[in-house]
Amino acid sequence: MLELRGIVAGYGGTTVLRGVDLIVPDGAVVALLGANGAGKTTLLRVASGLLHPTEGQMLLDGNDVTRSSPHELVRRGICHVPEGRGVFSSLTVQENLILQSARGEEKEALERAVEAFPRLGERLAQTAGTMSGGEQQMLALARTYVQHPNLVLLDEVSMGLAPKIVDEIFEFLTLLRGQGASLLLVEQYVTRALAVADYVYLLNRGEVAFAGEPSELEGEDVFTQYVGADIGH
Ligand SMILES: Nc1ncnc2c1ncn2[C@@H]1O[C@H](COP(=O)(O)OP(=O)(O)OP(=O)(O)O)[C@@H](O)[C@H]1O
Ligand SMILES: [Mg+2]
Repeated sequence: MLELRGIVAGYGGTTVLRGVDLIVPDGAVVALLGANGAGKTTLLRVASGLLHPTEGQMLLDGNDVTRSSPHELVRRGICHVPEGRGVFSSLTVQENLILQSARGEEKEALERAVEAFPRLGERLAQTAGTMSGGEQQMLALARTYVQHPNLVLLDEVSMGLAPKIVDEIFEFLTLLRGQGASLLLVEQYVTRALAVADYVYLLNRGEVAFAGEPSELEGEDVFTQYVGADIGH
């Protein structure tokens, strides 16, 4: 379980997160929604150790990891898929997958990646940067399946992709969850995110404006007020 308590964080002199409390229980899918600039990416950066909070605490399975490095958090089972495509574009698909896998487990990693996304199997020798946006995102996501993480942080992984690919990505998230991973999901397709989420947090200007179950959001003003129009399908 990941627990953020009173997290204050920002960049230089600018405070972005203003006392955020958030919990991702084991095995749960938590959707993190909010307008552009609300602080969603910043919160994922805190959770992955890339940005340390100036105030507050972060606990992982009850252990204080507030000052832990990204490397240490990866070791503890946190996997971050950042905004944009987290792949090495000048390397081939196979080289990317091998880089992502633990030493000695390269063969298994390749097999698992292809099992999750058969399309990657047809393109192992292709340079990652020459693949379509959807294929690159599949490659970025394959890492989460290969590494057996406990908690996956996903930052707008369906951004800019065709609906059919978005469907595939959401199916993959269900698969990932079936492996026992919990997910903290930042997503622009609000309806889709709510359909898979157990809990939802709305972030407004660095503060939690709502926390609860998706069903509680129906007809809530807070929703339209802070997230804006639903652009989901
Ligand atoms: N490296 C940085 N240096 C300075 N300010 C930053 C930096 N990264 C983000 N910010 C600022 O922090 C605020 C929150 O940004 P963040 O990227 O967390 O928002 P977001 O909710 O992910 O938005 P979006 O939906 O557009 O991705 C914004 O005002 C942004 O300009
Ligand atoms: Mg963002």
